[in-house]
Amino acid sequence: MCLHPYALTWAFFVMLFIFEPLAKLVSTVARSTDSADKREQRAGAGLSSFASPASSSSAPCKGPKLIIHVGPQKTGTTAIQEFLVKTSGWLQEQWGVSVGFHGSGKAVVEYIVHPLMYFCNGKRTRWNLRLSEEKVKQKLKDGLGFLQSKLNSSQLVVLSSEDFQKFDNKSWQCFRSEIRADTCQTAVVLHRSSATWIAARWSQGSKYDSSPKSFSSYVASKMESADAHGDSDKQLQQLNRLRPFDRVIPVSYDYLKEVNCSGAAFLICNASLGLTGKNWLQCRNSVNGRSSKLRNKSPPHAAIDVVRLARHFYEMKQAMRKNVSRCKPWPIGKWSDGYLFRHPDMMTSTNPAVIQVAKQIPVKCENFDGLFRSETQKWFSRTGAKRPRYGSKDICTADVASFEAKHWRLIGKIAPDC
Ligand SMILES: *[C@@H]1O[C@H](CO)[C@@H](O)[C@H](O)[C@H]1NC(C)=O
Ligand SMILES: *[C@@H]1O[C@H](CO)[C@@H](O)[C@H](O)[C@H]1NC(C)=O
Ligand SMILES: *[C@@H]1O[C@H](CO)[C@@H](O)[C@H](O)[C@H]1NC(C)=O
Ligand SMILES: *[C@@H]1O[C@H](CO)[C@@H](O)[C@H](O)[C@H]1NC(C)=O
Ligand SMILES: *[C@@H]1O[C@H](CO)[C@@H](O)[C@H](O)[C@H]1NC(C)=O
Repeated sequence: MCLHPYALTWAFFVMLFIFEPLAKLVSTVARSTDSADKREQRAGAGLSSFASPASSSSAPCKGPKLIIHVGPQKTGTTAIQEFLVKTSGWLQEQWGVSVGFHGSGKAVVEYIVHPLMYFCNGKRTRWNLRLSEEKVKQKLKDGLGFLQSKLNSSQLVVLSSEDFQKFDNKSWQCFRSEIRADTCQTAVVLHRSSATWIAARWSQGSKYDSSPKSFSSYVASKMESADAHGDSDKQLQQLNRLRPFDRVIPVSYDYLKEVNCSGAAFLICNASLGLTGKNWLQCRNSVNGRSSKLRNKSPPHAAIDVVRLARHFYEMKQAMRKNVSRCKPWPIGKWSDGYLFRHPDMMTSTNPAVIQVAKQIPVKCENFDGLFRSETQKWFSRTGAKRPRYGSKDICTADVASFEAKHWRLIGKIAPDC
């Protein structure tokens, strides 16, 4: 591999242009939250009916209680679901709590959420794409049949799926029409600090991506347009979609971490059983002891930047060549666990060579809480949920401005030959 002597310098300057200055992003975000703030003030601040029964008009429901944990993703949902599946017998015997699904932690996604979105919203998703209509119907029948039998035999049933986040009014209506009409439904929704929540999703998506976005462009791409209530923040929008519920129990993921309460313990001991005092303590400790530790480990954030920079580097090299036919192609694409297992040299942030380089380059660590202050404030004041005492952790990304030639050389070495 040989490189034109000017290439490194040239590459460096071009990359400075490619890097979207963060300042621009900060001002975009600040503008949009400012206007949301004003809308909120205009709308008045009397929107705090979340923690209490919402619809006082309808009679209090008399049937079994169904606790629906709706996520979102990256708030420990997999650990909660695995706990529920693994300990369903114990939960039933010890605490009288039935788990409304079985088989695997993601059973609710596969047997209820996506089949309903298929029949109700006409949505083909990766969970039902290859299945015949008959098959999807059978899955839904199995999923709802199991849930119904639990609702028939137990006063307290729990369901859990982060994909409930994708439900709109229509899907919730379909869901309601499929289960006992007298069921009392409670939604449990977690909140995670916006900065670390977005970073976690950025990181998750990059595992399978050989041309990932930078953190700042990822943040910008995740800006939603305002919903009917004037909210553009995803977590506020989720609260709005849960309005039709009899009751919504909001809780902060960051707060739970601080007080050593697992998501599973909160779901069972607080949201489902409403325990207090010694009973709660005993419940929390025994659930904490049985719930799995988080193992969905993501690669370091700087590794995502290494993939991105290696790609730019490779493109610079291509640009320098008169004849590119000898360049190995850059593998653009998004893959799955299975694909990456068969092709471990694929350029994504999980590649060990990439992680190795990520450890050797300069990084800058910044705290992004300030960007999301207004949404966060709104979420907690609307829900009345307990706030975490500390701010979120810094997010560390590649500090390209501090790169020296040796760092570019490391990056250049892992790019495909050209
Ligand atoms: C649940 O009970 C209802 C009657 O209350 C019955 O019609 C239905 O078949 C039962 N479902 C299951 C799955 O047991
Ligand atoms: C539909 O959802 C919105 C929130 O997104 C809510 O305000 C509205 O009342 C819902 N409509 C019905 C008919 O439930
Ligand atoms: C949570 O656990 C950690 C370590 O196990 C401990 O240092 C900390 O004091 C605990 N916090 C609370 C609020 O119990
Ligand atoms: C859960 O319930 C216990 C006992 O009532 C309470 O001390 C704790 O603060 C609750 N947790 C949350 C997050 O509300
Ligand atoms: C580029 O290189 C390839 C092989 O290395 C050669 O076959 C091809 O003719 C070259 N093309 C040009 C335009 O020089």
